[in-house]
Amino acid sequence: MMGSFQPSNFQLLYLLIAALLDCNMATQRPCKQVHRLNINYVQGDNMSFSCLTTTHPLESLTVKLRRTDPIKDILMYSDTSPASEHQRWSVRNDAGNVTLDLKNISFSDKGRYECQVYKDLDCLNATLLNLRVRECKILDSVHATSDSSVLLPCSEHPLQHNAGQVTWEIIIGHKPTKIDEYRPPNKPSNSTERDTRPLYERARIIGNGSLLIRDAVNTDGSWYQCRVSEKTCYEVKLVMKEITDAPTSADIPVVQTEGNIDSSAAVTTDLTAVVMVTIVSLCVLIALIICVSLYIRKRKQNINSQRLDVPLYSVVQRS
Ligand SMILES: *[C@@H]1O[C@H](CO)[C@@H](O)[C@H](O)[C@H]1NC(C)=O
Ligand SMILES: *[C@@H]1O[C@H](CO)[C@@H](O)[C@H](O)[C@H]1NC(C)=O
Ligand SMILES: *[C@@H]1O[C@H](CO)[C@@H](O)[C@H](O)[C@H]1NC(C)=O
Ligand SMILES: *[C@@H]1O[C@H](CO)[C@@H](O)[C@H](O)[C@H]1NC(C)=O
Ligand SMILES: *[C@@H]1O[C@H](CO)[C@@H](O)[C@H](O)[C@H]1NC(C)=O
Ligand SMILES: *[C@@H]1O[C@H](CO)[C@@H](O)[C@H](O)[C@H]1NC(C)=O
Repeated sequence: MMGSFQPSNFQLLYLLIAALLDCNMATQRPCKQVHRLNINYVQGDNMSFSCLTTTHPLESLTVKLRRTDPIKDILMYSDTSPASEHQRWSVRNDAGNVTLDLKNISFSDKGRYECQVYKDLDCLNATLLNLRVRECKILDSVHATSDSSVLLPCSEHPLQHNAGQVTWEIIIGHKPTKIDEYRPPNKPSNSTERDTRPLYERARIIGNGSLLIRDAVNTDGSWYQCRVSEKTCYEVKLVMKEITDAPTSADIPVVQTEGNIDSSAAVTTDLTAVVMVTIVSLCVLIALIICVSLYIRKRKQNINSQRLDVPLYSVVQRS
C-alpha cells in the first residue's frame, strides 16, 4: 500500500513544481519605462507612429496595441488569426522602426492607447499614446492691420471657385458662433478706434468660399471656422496687428508688454516722487534756515538790548 502511494505523492509534487515554473516562465516581464506621447490629427488623416527603433526583424517581435479607456485590445502582431475588425490598424517595420498605422482617423478614435513591443518575454518599449482628433484642419494664420480688408481662405489650395455651399462661423470661447449673431465685447476704453459697423455687416463670403472682411477692427481678431461639407472644414486664426499709426513717444509703452508698462510707469512715478520730495525738503530746509537765522538774530538783539537794559537798570537801582 505504501509503495503505491509514494510515487503518486512525488508525481503530485513534480506537477506542482512544473506548474509553478511554467507559470513563472509564461509571465512577461513588465515594461520598465513607459513613454508618453500626445499627438493631434484631423478627421480623415492617416496616422503613423513608431513604438520602437530596433534591429530585430519584425517577425521576432510581439506588438500589442490596446485602448486604455476602457481597456480593449486592438491589435496583436504575430497573431496569425485573420485580420481583426480593426482593419484600419496595421503594423510594419519601416527600416528599423516598428511603426503602427491607422488609416482614415475618425472622431471615435480619439483617446488613450498603449503600445508594447516584446522580444520573447522582455518588454522592449511601451508607449502611452494620447490621440486627439480635431474635426477641422488648421490653416495658416492670417495677419491684418486695422481698417484693411482681410481675406480668410477656406481651402489649403488656391481656388478660383467653389462648388459647394460654404458656411463661416467665428469661434468664441471654443464655441463656433454664427457671424450674424456675434457681438464684439465692449471696447476696453477710448481707443483710436472709431465706432465700427458689426462684423456681419462688413463680412461676406466670396465665390471661392473665402471670407472677405472689410475695415477690419481689432475685435475681429479671433479663430474662424468654415465648413465645406459635413466632413470637411477648416479653422483659421485672424491676428490683428497693434495700431502703428503715428507712434509718438507717449504711445511707445503701449507696444511694450504689460510687465514693461507697469515697471516703466512705476519708474516714472518713482522719479516724480523723488523730485517732489527733493523740492519740498529743499523748501523746508530753506524756510528752516531763514527761520533759525531770524530767530538767532532776534535773540541776539534781545540779548543785546537786555545787556544794555539790565546794567542800566541795576546801575539805577544800585544808585
Ligand atoms: C490615407 O491613405 C490612403 C491610402 O492608404 C490614401 O488614399 C489617402 O489619401 C490618405 N489620406 C490622407 C489624408 O493622407
Ligand atoms: C520607445 O518609445 C518612445 C516613444 O515612442 C521613443 O521615443 C523611444 O525612442 C523608444 N525607445 C526605443 C528604444 O525605441
Ligand atoms: C524612425 O522613427 C523616427 C521617429 O519616429 C525617425 O526620426 C526616424 O527617421 C525613423 N527611422 C527610419 C529609418 O525611418
Ligand atoms: C473614412 O471614414 C469615413 C467614416 O468615418 C467614411 O465615410 C469614409 O468613406 C472613409 N474614407 C476612406 C477613404 O476610407
Ligand atoms: C479666392 O479668390 C480671391 C480673389 O477672388 C483670391 O485672392 C484668393 O486667394 C482666393 N482664395 C483661395 C483660397 O483660393
Ligand atoms: C473718452 O471718451 C469720453 C466720452 O465718451 C470723452 O469725454 C473723453 O474725453 C475721452 N477720453 C479720451 C482720453 O479720449
